[in-house]
Amino acid sequence: MEKIKELYSNYVMPTYAPEIALVEGKGSYVWDKDGKEYLDFTSGIAVTNIGHSHPVYIEAIQKQLSKLVHVSNLFYTEPQAQLAREISEISLGGKCFFANSGAEANEGMIKLARLWGHDKGRYEIITMKNSFHGRTLATASATGQDKIQKGFEPMPTGFVYAEFNNLESVKELINEKTVAVMFEAIQGEGGVLPVTPEFVEGVRALCDEKNLLMLCDEVQCGIGRTGKWFGYQHYSVEPDVISFAKALGNGYPIGGITASPKYSDVLQVGKHATTFGGTPLACSAALAVLKVCKDEGLVDKAVESGKYFTDGLLEIIENNDEFTTVRGKGLLLGLVCKNEVKPYFQKLTEKGLLTVPAGPNVLRFIPPLNVSKADMDKALDIVQACVARSK
Ligand SMILES: Cc1ncc(COP(=O)(O)O)c(C=O)c1O
Repeated sequence: MEKIKELYSNYVMPTYAPEIALVEGKGSYVWDKDGKEYLDFTSGIAVTNIGHSHPVYIEAIQKQLSKLVHVSNLFYTEPQAQLAREISEISLGGKCFFANSGAEANEGMIKLARLWGHDKGRYEIITMKNSFHGRTLATASATGQDKIQKGFEPMPTGFVYAEFNNLESVKELINEKTVAVMFEAIQGEGGVLPVTPEFVEGVRALCDEKNLLMLCDEVQCGIGRTGKWFGYQHYSVEPDVISFAKALGNGYPIGGITASPKYSDVLQVGKHATTFGGTPLACSAALAVLKVCKDEGLVDKAVESGKYFTDGLLEIIENNDEFTTVRGKGLLLGLVCKNEVKPYFQKLTEKGLLTVPAGPNVLRFIPPLNVSKADMDKALDIVQACVARSK
């Protein structure tokens, strides 16, 4: 451990502050260098939705690895074609563009909207305060949080920020330059805050009335995490474009966007590109992820397990005045604390349960979608042991 720490300290830029070194993973578990076992309720921040080392996933990657890894998008490749069709069928019914990360996916979504509005002189995108869309300059600028932008000014222009779940504040920002409204179905990094049906329906109606695009960032909510393939599917209306990444590759980097048929041909030859996006290897990994999700009924399982785990957490905090509620959907859950969650996060880690803070006062639980009831019980026992009854 000391050796890894030293290497990091000498050679890795200090943008993160990890405390443990992980070497292996299987299902809902990971192990550190000393063999200590942890229940992984982070899923690598909503990435390993089918768990670590799933045999179907390993086999698919190994098979493609020995066949064809990369040729660039100058050529057709079958896995990309198949993956685009699969994503289209579970979402908006249009076409896809593949990238490599969430931020890059959102860049593509922003570019699509700008290109669509360009001839009419429209480019401004209304995003939400407290949102998170990535760390590239444009996506950090789209992110409605000062702390993400501070020190990097001047930020790229063209983003204005409305209050999340406040339709009036969106209306007030619309002007002749507005081209789109962009939001997350659940603000994950912002504290596991779900969007309200009134807001989603209201934004859709506004977008229709003013001829604006409705953009949904599904990077954290997508691929079954919330109990639907995509977070927007909990509501009665559809966005025009969505972005996705994280869980699609279960750890193999892949992201992208998909648009409804009406906007599927906005990005034409030469207008957007990436060397690595949609390689045969990345797409084979993603196809295996979608197959496992379908074969094992993981999207429905997220609903069932989410309810079970939420009920368990609510029971634990019933007699506790430090924690106020549990929020989220499916298996993207936040335990809300009145104070900073850092001490709880550390205690849980020590006792073998990995979680992720979401903002200063929310503990996020993001287990794999195939987490067993026994492992949820084990996690609840650890939470129980770390949360003193104070009422
Ligand atoms: C909603 C959302 N959008 C975008 C991103 C950025 O994704 P990436 O870190 O893959 O660039 C994240 C990452 O946490 C996210 O949660």
